[in-house]
Amino acid sequence: MSDELSQLALELRRHLAWQEQDGTRTLLKDPKAPPLFAQAPATQARPQPVQPAPVPAAKAPARTLEEVRKELGDCRRCKLCQGRKTIVFGVGNPKAELVFVGEGPGAEEDSQGIPFVGAAGQLLTKMIEAMKFKRDDVYICNVVKCRPPGNRNPEPDELEACEPFLKAQLASIQPKAIVALGKFAAQTLLRDSTAITRLRGQWRSYEGIPLMPTYHPAYLLRQPGEKKLAWMDLQEVMKRFGKAP
Ligand code: URA
Repeated sequence: MSDELSQLALELRRHLAWQEQDGTRTLLKDPKAPPLFAQAPATQARPQPVQPAPVPAAKAPARTLEEVRKELGDCRRCKLCQGRKTIVFGVGNPKAELVFVGEGPGAEEDSQGIPFVGAAGQLLTKMIEAMKFKRDDVYICNVVKCRPPGNRNPEPDELEACEPFLKAQLASIQPKAIVALGKFAAQTLLRDSTAITRLRGQWRSYEGIPLMPTYHPAYLLRQPGEKKLAWMDLQEVMKRFGKAP
């Protein structure tokens, strides 16, 4: 009997405690009564101070192409300055939606101060027009702005010295897409030493801008059989601009 009574008392205390927790009544507590429920620590719902949303760090406005060119000045930052006639900065629309980046000026470009005006340049112009763009609508530049002697490959220190100016050009133009022509443009912009044969044809990203690596027109002049692959890559670029190949 006494067992039954103590069981009843226990259940009553549990019920009252449940009501107290629930907020339906206040339990007059017996200070000696054993705890019935493990109580969660009381949380004081303090109003949280409202934090102002962090203001995003203001991005320095990109320089204009003229400002970048001015900063380049009569560049002596690498040894290519010794053999050049002209600094070949870039040509085209400063607000171009599409930018072509090549390797470095050849003899004709060095004489005229304009990128892609020699034999490879003529092929590039045809490629641009086949893509239903006009040469004047796009922007064309190179990873190095001075002619490597004898058209040798640009060397790592030369690429490194010139890279900030290429980056500044792209930051200024903010194109919708970039076509990297050949190994040096693709590898420099992507910081990826994968062979151009493997890089080409796959969309990549340069600082959030879609970048399509493809073969360099000078290579296509030597290997015309590869033109169809380059054309496939350029068709991908056309699609991105809503142009039907
Ligand atoms: N090849 C390039 O990579 N750039 C030029 O401007 C000309 C030829």
